[in-house]
Amino acid sequence: MAAKKACEFLSKTMMEEVRRWGSMKQTGVSLRYMMEFGSKPTDRNLLISAQFLHKELPIRIARRALELENLPYGLSEKPAILKVRDWYLDSFRDLRSFPEIKDTSDEREFTKMIKAIKVRHNNVVPTMALGVQQLKKEMDPSMYEDLVEIHQFLDRFYMSRIGIRMLIGQHVELHNPNPPPQCVGCINTKMSPVEVAQNASEDARAICLREYGSSPYFTIYGDPNFTFPYVPAHLHLMVFELVKNSLRAVQERYMDSDKVVPPIKIIVADGIEDVAIKVSDEGGGIPRSGLPKIFTYLYSTAKNPLNEHSDLGTADTVTMAGYGFGLPISRLYARYFGGDLQIISMEGYGEWILVLRCFVIFSCFNQFVYVSRLDSVSVSTLHRH
Ligand SMILES: Nc1ncnc2c1ncn2[C@@H]1O[C@H](COP(=O)(O)OP(=O)(O)OP(=O)(O)O)[C@@H](O)[C@H]1O
Ligand SMILES: [Mg+2]
Repeated sequence: MAAKKACEFLSKTMMEEVRRWGSMKQTGVSLRYMMEFGSKPTDRNLLISAQFLHKELPIRIARRALELENLPYGLSEKPAILKVRDWYLDSFRDLRSFPEIKDTSDEREFTKMIKAIKVRHNNVVPTMALGVQQLKKEMDPSMYEDLVEIHQFLDRFYMSRIGIRMLIGQHVELHNPNPPPQCVGCINTKMSPVEVAQNASEDARAICLREYGSSPYFTIYGDPNFTFPYVPAHLHLMVFELVKNSLRAVQERYMDSDKVVPPIKIIVADGIEDVAIKVSDEGGGIPRSGLPKIFTYLYSTAKNPLNEHSDLGTADTVTMAGYGFGLPISRLYARYFGGDLQIISMEGYGEWILVLRCFVIFSCFNQFVYVSRLDSVSVSTLHRH
């Protein structure tokens, strides 16, 4: 009894602490600052960075934990969401119980701890998806479109997650004794989008082969020598998701046919402000009326790979499709640095349309990612989430 009381008291004081930190103002970090600061990872700079994160991360994490407590339609009470909330509370506790960072040895310990926090949160996306699915099961499908608040929350939540992971990833990566050439933390100052697109498309193809036993091919057009500063992991994720979608659409359409399977086309166009990447396929597209749905977190036409008993701690959560999260999450990654993701679908096959005044496209499903050139002045102040 006494133990239960002590536990309740502890969690009450902790929640007060979470509320106090959650009401503090978070500080944005500009990308330019990150690149300049990270290019000289001296012990002194690492110490300053750790001291900043020690104050900043609990604010950001507390805000998310509070939001997870107050979701509409009873989403907060779903077991998967409670699990995610507990991860946030555990991380908050770890950060707040870490003493003041005074020297290099403290800084190294702190770095180990935030690295572990990043790992703890690895499965947040599929676990949240499971929570949303738990809610969805209880609802009438006609209500899905009313869930604007939930979509807005998820957009904010994931955007903030991208920011937190970027801050931790950048700090941790600055300790790498042998950083890849031209890299400042997670930012590659000379990233080749063609090379990243190649790797991401191969990874997507491997999943398709694993799932279906065969896979359409892809072709990449673009200058492999063109480079610009960007976070390769972000671009990889976006292209991977888009190509995965395209492979699935084409595979499903041609699986039982004798026709020649048309390859996925990936075009990398290097503009002055943006780099545009177009992924197009001839998988049949979707009707225009379906387009608003595909950016919602509840919508997928694939069988959901998750169930109540999924062990997300150990399970391989990469599947061909089914979470309904691929497109909205990829759009957040694109927007994070000021880019965007747009889709133009042509149901059926064989029409010409003119897009962006400069592209003439012949295909059914066109997915565009615009990634901001991080060397263009207009984006130097971005990354404030
Ligand atoms: N290239 C495409 N051709 C036709 N339909 C597509 C294409 N890309 C996406 N869609 C439709 O949009 C839906 C949502 O796509 P999204 O990537 O967000 O989720 P998913 O692929 O179902 O699951 P996952 O979260 O695992 O990616 C898909 O289920 C599919 O119906
Ligand atoms: Mg997908």
